[in-house]
Amino acid sequence: MDYTRYFSRVSKNRKFSWLREYAKLLQDLPPGTVFLAGGVPNTTQFPFVEAKFTLRDGSTIAIDPKLMSQSLQYGATEGVPALRKKLEEMVSRYHGVNEERMEKSEVLVLPGSQFGLAMALEAMLNNGSYLIIEEHAYPGVLSAVNPYNPKYLPVKVDGDGMIPDSLREVLSPWKAEEIRDSDGLVPKVLYICPSGGNPTGSSLTEERKQEIYHIAQEYNLLIIEDDPYFFIQFRDILLLELLNKWGWEGFDEHVRQVRCFYQSQRDIMLAATQKHLSGLVEWYIPKGGMFLWMKVPQLKDTYEMIMERGLAHGIVLVPGRPFCPGGQNHPSQYLRASFSLATKDEMDQVCLCVLVTV
Ligand SMILES: Cc1ncc(COP(=O)(O)O)c(C=O)c1O
Repeated sequence: MDYTRYFSRVSKNRKFSWLREYAKLLQDLPPGTVFLAGGVPNTTQFPFVEAKFTLRDGSTIAIDPKLMSQSLQYGATEGVPALRKKLEEMVSRYHGVNEERMEKSEVLVLPGSQFGLAMALEAMLNNGSYLIIEEHAYPGVLSAVNPYNPKYLPVKVDGDGMIPDSLREVLSPWKAEEIRDSDGLVPKVLYICPSGGNPTGSSLTEERKQEIYHIAQEYNLLIIEDDPYFFIQFRDILLLELLNKWGWEGFDEHVRQVRCFYQSQRDIMLAATQKHLSGLVEWYIPKGGMFLWMKVPQLKDTYEMIMERGLAHGIVLVPGRPFCPGGQNHPSQYLRASFSLATKDEMDQVCLCVLVTV
């Protein structure tokens, strides 16, 4: 896929780094090659030699000296090749991408989603560009893009994620053919969190995914899909070793256990909310992730309730303001409660506190 149309002016000016391309050679040098080309640290000077990680079931993953030097040494910018291959297999296995499309894929290994998102969005935005986004969105993205003074186009969300009709509504000032090939100031990029959204907890249904995809095709929009709650994330060599050790079946079993844990936490949170706050707050049942997103219709803004009265009661929640694209100082009737860590008693306590502080 050619992304040039979507690139910002700065990105269009970027050229590849010749030295980084050359560094790829390091990965497959035949034995006996004399290498005086790179600014590459000598592995004998690394402080770490080997490591052993113990998993919850008592089994271990050993990082032997060879793997350790490889993991601490410079490598290809895109990530360790064997891990990239494994991740391509993962995308193919869990997202149903067939092999023909997979060949064209470009998997990059990055130190976390936040970094990847910031890089991807910054590569696309000029000062004042449009950004289509869910009406309540992950604040990490907002803080990455706010310095570009984007024109946010917020799309409504319900329990099944972004609402396609609202997306059409947001795009209605333009005709599809005006946007499709335009190089000018038109909406080109759609940011979306499809599973267990942060903060809404909503997940897109299959039909909605299709509908949004078709709208994006019609208007030639680039979809930046932020899906941190689809799987749990680790890092390069360790992740590779873990995947090798578990195999896909072991990985599936681990994901199943983690999903059951968070689902049970969610159910305890929902029961507490139902018991103490029914009639006072509104919510959708979270379909994934770690958050319950509540609306307090009685209040114009939850900020004081949480930042003053709530904190004074020893309860920490997040007010809705920071999740509003372009309106982080504007009143919001929402609040976010994370159910990942709290015990049942703590959840009851939080709900009772909301009851008192509203
Ligand atoms: C929707 C969303 N995207 C990205 C991130 C950042 O993930 P990472 O810790 O991998 O940078 C988070 C973390 O809370 C998130 O909720």
